[in-house]
Amino acid sequence: MRDETLVRSRDFELRAPRGAAEQARWRTIRRSGLVGMHGAADPRRPGGAGSFPLALFHAGELVATVRVDLLDGEAAALRLVAVAPERRGLGFGRALLALAEDFVRARGCSRVRLHAARDALPFYRRSEYAPMAWDEPPARADSVSLGKVL
Ligand SMILES: CC(C)(COP(=O)(O)OP(=O)(O)OC[C@H]1O[C@@H](n2cnc3c(N)ncnc32)[C@H](O)[C@@H]1OP(=O)(O)O)[C@@H](O)C(=O)NCCC(=O)NCCS
Repeated sequence: MRDETLVRSRDFELRAPRGAAEQARWRTIRRSGLVGMHGAADPRRPGGAGSFPLALFHAGELVATVRVDLLDGEAAALRLVAVAPERRGLGFGRALLALAEDFVRARGCSRVRLHAARDALPFYRRSEYAPMAWDEPPARADSVSLGKVL
C-alpha cells in the first residue's frame, strides 16, 4: 500500500508522495540532489515491487526525498537522498535517514547500503555509516559505498 503513512514520529512523517503537487515537489527536490550527475535523471531504475519512493514531511511540509530499494531479504539500498536546498542544515537529513532506517527494519532487513557522493560523506558519518564493500557499481566514479548494520 504505497499511499498509507509508512513511518511517523512526533514532528516527522515518511510516506509516499500523494497527488500531482506532492509528486512534483518530490521530483524537484530529488533533482536538486543530483548535482554532478551530468544530466542523469535517475541513475537507478525503480526496482518494481521492492522500490519505495518516499518523502519526508515536517509539520506537513515536504522537505526531503529518498528511495528505498529492497535488495534481498537482508539488505536495502537508500537512493535519491536529498533535502530541499532551502531546508538544509536543519537536521532534516538526519531525520530522513533515521526514518528510512525504521522503514528498512520494518521490512525485515538488517543492513542499509548506499553510494555516497564525496561531499556528503561527513553527513553520513554523523549517522554512523561506514565504508562497506558492495558489488553494485556506483553511478558516479567518485562515490563511496557505505553501509550500516541496523
Ligand atoms: C547531504 C544532505 C542530505 C544533508 O542534509 P541536511 O538536512 O543538510 O543535514 P542535517 O542538517 O541533518 O545534518 C546532520 C549532520 O551532518 C552534518 N552535515 C550535513 N551536511 C554536511 C556536510 N556537507 N559537511 C559536513 N557535515 C555535514 C551536519 O553538520 C549535522 O551534524 P551534527 O551532528 O553536528 O549536527 C543535504 O545537504 C543534501 O540534500 N545535499 C544535496 C544532495 C546530496 O548530497 N545527497 C546525498 C547524495 S549521496
